[in-house]
Amino acid sequence: MPDSGARNGNPVREETIYEYLQREGVSRRQFIKYCGMVAGAMGLWAAPVLNGSARLLGKPDLTEEVIRALETKPRLPVIWLDIQGCGGCTEAFAGSQSPTLVDLMLDRISIDFHQMLFAAAGSQAETALWEATRTYAGKYVLVVEGSIPTGGEGAYCAVAGRSAVDVVREAAAGADVIIATGSCSAFGGIARATPDPTEARSVREIVTDKPVVNIPGCPAIPEVTTGTIARYIVFGTLPELDDLGRPKTFYGTTIHDSCLRRPFHDAGKFARSFDDEGARGGWCLYELGCRGPTTYNACATLKWGGGLSFPIQSGHPCIGCSQPDFWDDGGLYQAQSVPLDRPALTTVGMAAGVGALVGAAVAAAGRGRRKRVHEARAESAPEAESTPEPERTGRG
Ligand code: SF4
Ligand code: F3S
Repeated sequence: MPDSGARNGNPVREETIYEYLQREGVSRRQFIKYCGMVAGAMGLWAAPVLNGSARLLGKPDLTEEVIRALETKPRLPVIWLDIQGCGGCTEAFAGSQSPTLVDLMLDRISIDFHQMLFAAAGSQAETALWEATRTYAGKYVLVVEGSIPTGGEGAYCAVAGRSAVDVVREAAAGADVIIATGSCSAFGGIARATPDPTEARSVREIVTDKPVVNIPGCPAIPEVTTGTIARYIVFGTLPELDDLGRPKTFYGTTIHDSCLRRPFHDAGKFARSFDDEGARGGWCLYELGCRGPTTYNACATLKWGGGLSFPIQSGHPCIGCSQPDFWDDGGLYQAQSVPLDRPALTTVGMAAGVGALVGAAVAAAGRGRRKRVHEARAESAPEAESTPEPERTGRG
């Protein structure tokens, strides 16, 4: 049983997650259902955690392990700060389909303070924030959304007389784990685009003495953020990160690697305007500026809205929103000059790809069987004689 230390000579036992849920009125049956949900998300991480190529082929059932973890481990408090951002990452969470892992992790298990979703405001909210950091000192997950403006001696974003830089540093000091969710907190995001008037910086540039997990995206995929928290609860470890601080499982391959329009790309069929027959037929959007070939994220497999769709599926090229400096990087809606003859997937890439595919299966189970007209079209298109082929430009 978890023990938070001694008080008056007596050890103080912390409430476990199961006990907490029981107190919240969750039945044993519901608890087992929740554990199954978390176990499904754990499948996302299973490949790199289990670290064996043979296991990549099957999705291990981790429900028993999750039940054990939630029955014995204390609740993991989460404190969520919104700094210089549009609130889109929170909006993406709020828009997730229900019931989901997001509901479970954030509504029922973890969130202790969330600036945007919190009912309290003003001094009440400030008091709650700093009380939470004191109560859970050294134990909480700090999630930061939005970039941190450093210009004007902190004048661009100050709360209750404290600059955003100070707020983030102070909250980070007592955190056990720090997650930067969204491209703004991970890399500076749009606020950092030229001319960067507020001198926006990422969490990693402000907090340099602790590991920070970056979950970039505009917005970040909610299941990746909550999955990272769930993984920490169950396995007690952070995921393996790439050189940009992103979990390799979700950022190990490009959008292009799993894109549903890829068969059109490989068949040399490219839309040339947003309303031509190629675009309407689901053809590749490379010549409309798609950055899928150089963008690392799990959009094409996890998607949004319970696995419903993602930008390319709905007809918009990827603008590389999960890459650093994407706003300044060569202009939007212009064909990119990138080598597309990619080598075969590496072992890491394979693990990431399998992890993402398992994630897609989890999402698919949640939304039931929904027919994917675009995918069916994409598979049959290279042989479709009746579809007109636009003239190719820009690439050999
Ligand atoms: Fe998909 Fe873009 Fe790659 Fe075309 S270039 S296959 S639209 S990711
Ligand atoms: Fe962003 Fe591209 Fe995904 S624009 S949401 S990384 S498809």
